[in-house]
Amino acid sequence: MIRMYAGRIPDEIIAAVLRQNDIVDVVGKYVHLTKKGRNFVGLCPFHSEKTPSFNVSPEKQIYHCFGCGAGGHVIRFVMNIEGLTFPEAVRSLAEEAGIVWRWGDAALEETPEQRERKAMIAGHELAVKIYHYVLKNTAEGQKAVRYLRGRGFSDKLIDEFEIGYAPRTWDMLARYLAKNGHDPETMEKAGLLARREDGSYTDRFRDRIMFPIHDAAGRPIAFSGRIIDDDGGPKYLNSPETPLFQKSRTLFNLHRAKSAIRKTETAVLFEGFADVIKAWQAGVRNGVAAMGTALTERHARTIRGMAKRVIVCYDGDGAGQSAAQKAIPLLEADGGEVRVALLPEGTDPDEYIAAHGAEAFLSQVIDGAVSVADFRLLMLRRQIPPVGDEGKLRYVQAALRIVAALPTPVERELYVKRLAAECGFSVEALNEQLAGMRRQAQKNGRARDNNQIRWNNVMQGAGGAKSARALLPAYHNAERKLLAAMMEDRELAMHVQEQLGDAFNVEAHAAIAAYLYAFYAKEKEPNPGLFIASLEDERLAALAGQLAFSEDSGIAGDPQVVEDYIREIRKFPKTQAIKQKREEQQQAERIGDVRRAAQIGMEIKSLELELKSL
Ligand code: GTP
Ligand code: MN
Repeated sequence: MIRMYAGRIPDEIIAAVLRQNDIVDVVGKYVHLTKKGRNFVGLCPFHSEKTPSFNVSPEKQIYHCFGCGAGGHVIRFVMNIEGLTFPEAVRSLAEEAGIVWRWGDAALEETPEQRERKAMIAGHELAVKIYHYVLKNTAEGQKAVRYLRGRGFSDKLIDEFEIGYAPRTWDMLARYLAKNGHDPETMEKAGLLARREDGSYTDRFRDRIMFPIHDAAGRPIAFSGRIIDDDGGPKYLNSPETPLFQKSRTLFNLHRAKSAIRKTETAVLFEGFADVIKAWQAGVRNGVAAMGTALTERHARTIRGMAKRVIVCYDGDGAGQSAAQKAIPLLEADGGEVRVALLPEGTDPDEYIAAHGAEAFLSQVIDGAVSVADFRLLMLRRQIPPVGDEGKLRYVQAALRIVAALPTPVERELYVKRLAAECGFSVEALNEQLAGMRRQAQKNGRARDNNQIRWNNVMQGAGGAKSARALLPAYHNAERKLLAAMMEDRELAMHVQEQLGDAFNVEAHAAIAAYLYAFYAKEKEPNPGLFIASLEDERLAALAGQLAFSEDSGIAGDPQVVEDYIREIRKFPKTQAIKQKREEQQQAERIGDVRRAAQIGMEIKSLELELKSL
């Protein structure tokens, strides 16, 4: 059947689909992936192989198989694996991510999964209403209201967050859902009901305060139920993992917070969702929390995608601080700026607000958030108190390691001065030690890069096609490196366009460059996945995918390296021309054409001059 679509799919929809469907999650449903360096690898689902050459990059959101050349972004993957057309794949991924839009007039039929998800959401919508009603309007619910008020939740807050109460009864929700025509089997799959041996259904949550959890689009997808008396069972009972609810990607309160996050370019990350709610009441409108799991790369990427800056506000106990230490690097990836809000030892944000009030929480804790280096030094001071000669030495040694990792000289200087004052060492001595550490770190860094390259060679070897990279001539290498970086950096691409245009020596490289210039003329943001997908020539797409994976794109930040590469690329045609002229010259000499030989000699001279001036 031919399906007609009224017009093209809007670019924003495609962009949203790419943004909101993580390629690792999607591919992970079909391919067993293991982490290898910055990427994930697995056995290619598109051709048969015994050693994995299928690579997925969470950073670039693309996949590439070094064996068969398949590759592209998440939409391409779904098209190929499910045998869907482009619009069908977009549609399916959009549904998955809860992106709502009207698709011209030609509505596509829903897949069974989409129907089921809708039914699950409808069940949750009803459950939210009933639980909230029971809390507010029944005698049993008063117990929950008293508890919440005792913890400082205002009535307005209870309404705003639609907090509810699941009564002690076995089947209050089960009966309501049935009465409203909801299929109990689906409701069990949604995590709302549990199935008895005899085939009847009971409520999953009983005698708990119910906190609804929403997806980014604001649809209820799960609950967390808190016990009222802190004995008898786990404090919180969460919905199980369902097609709607995955803890590794859900952020509590994201749908309410996202506009404030975008506006302030800042998100506040809490450990507990109770903290998010209390902080909301205190005026923090950009707070989110993971659902009782450690922060995942997926969570971090969602946050980084919306905010430049993240304030980590975890509990002031050992567990909270070590969880913060683990979350920080994930949030700092891709240049994310992180600050850490400090709470007195042993309190969480909720308790701090209860004890000191909203005002103090905002001005002292949130606005007083410190840099990551300050946070690390504070942690270190607890671990190794700088007292006595030995304590000071050990502390300074470890502290300098933190300082050595700071990106700018002025920052390092600032901290060195502080450390010197704190421990009574001279700035010179500390600087000397610091310089040694940085040299060591750079050496180690280089060793790692080499490993990376070797690994890539192995991967290419597994594909059987490409020769060892070390054998590539310098200009070839330079072209690959530049193209890889250009895919991720618009400004660099603009610069190369100006400097080189299409003067890449390898024909396929010149073609990729030309397509890339065209891509950036249309798109404001780099997007390797989208770019690769836009290449209709499969061989070019495969090559672009290979470059995106095998070349370190970090060179963009180093103008010197970029200029060297550009020079290398310009040099090649000239050295080639010189070589050829030399042969011609020899030939002229052989046949005794002295005038011609002299003429060619002049041309060589001028080419050599040009070469030097590059
Ligand atoms: P309150 O005691 O109600 O103030 O909760 P809290 O926000 O202080 O929770 P806590 O710091 O103990 O835990 C942080 C987060 O971990 C919570 O928001 C929950 O998501 C999760 N969590 C805590 N206890 C449990 C539990 O018993 N089971 C599950 N599944 N999650 C829990
Ligand atoms: Mn608490």
